[in-house]
Amino acid sequence: MSNYCDVVVDLQSGDTGKGKVTHSLLKSGEYDLVLRYNGGSNAGHTIYHNGEKIVTHQVPAGVLYGIKSLIGIGCVVNIPKLIEEIKMLNDHGFKTDGLISVDYRAHVVTEEHLAEDGNDTSIGTTKQGIGPCYRDKYDRKGIRITELSYHQSRDNYFTLVDSLPFLKDARVLAEGAQGFELDIDWGDYPYVTSSHCTVGSVCLNGVSPRKIRKIYGVAKAYETYVGTKDFGMDCDDLKKIQEIGQEFGATTGRPRKCNWINLDKLAYAAKVNDITHLIVNKIDILDQVGRYVYIEDFERHDAGTRLGLISEIVKALPDNVRVIFSDSPHTI
Ligand code: IMP
Ligand code: MG
Repeated sequence: MSNYCDVVVDLQSGDTGKGKVTHSLLKSGEYDLVLRYNGGSNAGHTIYHNGEKIVTHQVPAGVLYGIKSLIGIGCVVNIPKLIEEIKMLNDHGFKTDGLISVDYRAHVVTEEHLAEDGNDTSIGTTKQGIGPCYRDKYDRKGIRITELSYHQSRDNYFTLVDSLPFLKDARVLAEGAQGFELDIDWGDYPYVTSSHCTVGSVCLNGVSPRKIRKIYGVAKAYETYVGTKDFGMDCDDLKKIQEIGQEFGATTGRPRKCNWINLDKLAYAAKVNDITHLIVNKIDILDQVGRYVYIEDFERHDAGTRLGLISEIVKALPDNVRVIFSDSPHTI
């Protein structure tokens, strides 16, 4: 059997619509395993399945299609929340039996991590204990999920596995969480999350670099960011974008700060991730606001029309990248 790994990776600060892209790609029947490769319950993926809005945080989108899903070795797991989420999916009629696996070496988010992160004021975290959990992991004081003893309660919901045999023989779709600007190394440090949000992270989770086939970068036609740093929002048009684009966090409900798309940053993120495809979402929101502004060389430019902005975005990218613009919240 031919096997490969395609990747969905966010080129901005999260919330670009990766969940929707993953969901659309899965319809092709080209995949038999979905791998979540970084982060934890800080992520919020909004998915429309058969017209119904579903928000997931830790469970990879594959389960909605009856496809096996793996929470990779590089993720951190909030077990009670994961179980809650699986129950929610079951209540919506999704069968998850035997579909959800977690690498036995993934680290666990504890009550202490949650309490500590709950006091964060400097970064504006999602308060999901992510930073303290990864810190303890790198400090070699963390807890791997396999060390916990209450097998009984969780076994009905998910299975602990060694990722390698799973990944080796499968056609994998790897879905990332957060985004380039939030990457611990490549992002706008210290206003970042504590995991690797670039394509390299997929291999850290056990996918052979030689298996990587297509890399779908995902961006919005404008940018959003949630956290304490200053970001856009200095004109009425950006406020309109926030309102019309419904830019409020899926995990915390916080308003997302909005800014115009930065093409230099987009091009850089595209290079680091060596994308083969770019999916640009939500250009329809700019249609409704009637403004097509972008940032290049630290300055704002007015592209004038939708087509003008599209051509600037395409121009900013390497020639071999296939660019898709999507107006639909449901498909690409
Ligand atoms: P943490 O990941 O909760 O530690 O938060 C660190 C930074 O990443 C904060 O600015 C969060 O708002 C941001 N962040 C974390 N996860 C997401 C996400 O899924 N979407 C958007 N921003 C996120
Ligand atoms: Mg999100």
